Amino acid sequence: MKVYSELKGRTAVITGGSKGIGTAISERFGKENMNVVVNYHSDAKGAEEAVALIEKNGGKGVAIQADVSSEEGVQQLVDAAIDNFGGFDIWINNAGMENRHETHELPLKDWQRVIDVNLTGVFLGTKAALDYFVKNDKRGNIINMSSVHEQIPWPTFAHYAASKGGVKLFTETVAMEYAARNIRVNNIGPGAINTPINAEKFADPEQLATTTSMVPMQRIGDPEEVASVAAWLASDESSYVTGITLFVDGGMTLYPAFQGGRG
Ligand code: BGC
Repeated sequence: MKVYSELKGRTAVITGGSKGIGTAISERFGKENMNVVVNYHSDAKGAEEAVALIEKNGGKGVAIQADVSSEEGVQQLVDAAIDNFGGFDIWINNAGMENRHETHELPLKDWQRVIDVNLTGVFLGTKAALDYFVKNDKRGNIINMSSVHEQIPWPTFAHYAASKGGVKLFTETVAMEYAARNIRVNNIGPGAINTPINAEKFADPEQLATTTSMVPMQRIGDPEEVASVAAWLASDESSYVTGITLFVDGGMTLYPAFQGGRG
């Protein structure tokens, strides 16, 4: 693993840090000797495990319960970063959720909750981070967890795809708006990754084979492979990168149906 020495001692806030990609980024940031505010919604145990992983690897962590879809919740994360670590340098909007419904039967409450967490949560987290960076005259770094589904339509997940499509243009817009202040805003777009969100699906050999066949690299990704991209985006090595989505998807966004010259 490459270590980005400039990250040592820097502080990150990670929403949805109690599982999957959020925990992998927490662990990675521990290895970078960083301070991490690990946000969780309901999985206190998962968040404590993430903190333990951070500290075992040489960083410092604190677990904070908060709902990212509320302004008060997001403010608690800002306060925790200031109280525990004197502020923050990197903000990662990672919390997300999904569920499957045919669209003509998609309950409004499911639509609203997915939009609240995946899109409004990204807005509120970004707003709070921007406010902190601007008022403290600090260069800043915001990373949003998008998805291949900011680009690929996903039948029976219309709310999820709509939220991620929204994140794409939100990120591009805010990146342009704050570029001159040296605040970078980027998306990571994971494809099929071995995380709890996919555990049930990938436990079924048939579904696992179907998904794998949609990935040109012919395998499911590991959360650590997303975390290493987050570390690069957090580091100064990506200092001239803003407004992009960096897909971490084994080629899933490359129209795999055309493989072999089909079409
Ligand atoms: C979803 C996963 C899905 C992947 C590829 C991700 O955004 O969270 O459930 O496997 O996209 O479709």
